[in-house]
Amino acid sequence: MDDALRTLLDDLYAEGLTADAVEPDRLRRRRNLEPDAAALLTLIMRMAGVRVVVEIGTGNGYSAIWLADAVRDTGGHLTSVDVASPASAVVNLARAGLGGLVTFEVGDGGGYLERLPDGSVDLLFLDAERVQYAGWWPAPRRVIRAGGILAVDNVLSHPDEVAPFLALTGADPALTGTTVAVGKGLHLAWRRPEPG
Ligand SMILES: C[S@@+](CC[C@H](N)C(=O)[O-])C[C@H]1O[C@@H](n2cnc3c(N)ncnc32)[C@H](O)[C@@H]1O
Repeated sequence: MDDALRTLLDDLYAEGLTADAVEPDRLRRRRNLEPDAAALLTLIMRMAGVRVVVEIGTGNGYSAIWLADAVRDTGGHLTSVDVASPASAVVNLARAGLGGLVTFEVGDGGGYLERLPDGSVDLLFLDAERVQYAGWWPAPRRVIRAGGILAVDNVLSHPDEVAPFLALTGADPALTGTTVAVGKGLHLAWRRPEPG
């Protein structure tokens, strides 16, 4: 990552912390992905060479900038989905010079995943309303290709909210995962290839 992009990310993150500190409505806070979690996730993306990346929970595009920078290195593309307008994310991705690597979709993340073909995603990143994830099952597992990756943020900051979803992933023999104590807790799971 070049210095200009890192400075933009640092500025956006700092602005987010300042704005969130005075915003009483949780749903209106930016709640950006923590930089250390973003750095780990995008390093793994590069190491695994993921190309087809889907993010649920665009917000103002902070995490999408990280993800788009990684898919620039892997020759991939990011689709980022949010129920809310992506207007601020579009501006921020353009500021980062990464707008061409991202498609923004407006709508419910669960509904979006329902419409994706089996095994069509290399990496799925969930950063939306955590209590909804379990209701999306089994689409999150179904859409990830064999050898692909599921990433879920906030699993240590909001363990009760993600517990039903992690119970589903943990009980699924097609997935093997662990939670990393980085940022607000990043759960990573790998979809194993079909036996035989
Ligand atoms: C924590 S913020 C995302 C932060 C962003 N990933 C970042 O790091 O900058 C959560 C976002 O999820 C969106 N969201 C909530 N429910 C959703 C749903 N069912 N489908 C898609 N997006 C949803 C909200 O509108 C909000 O923008």
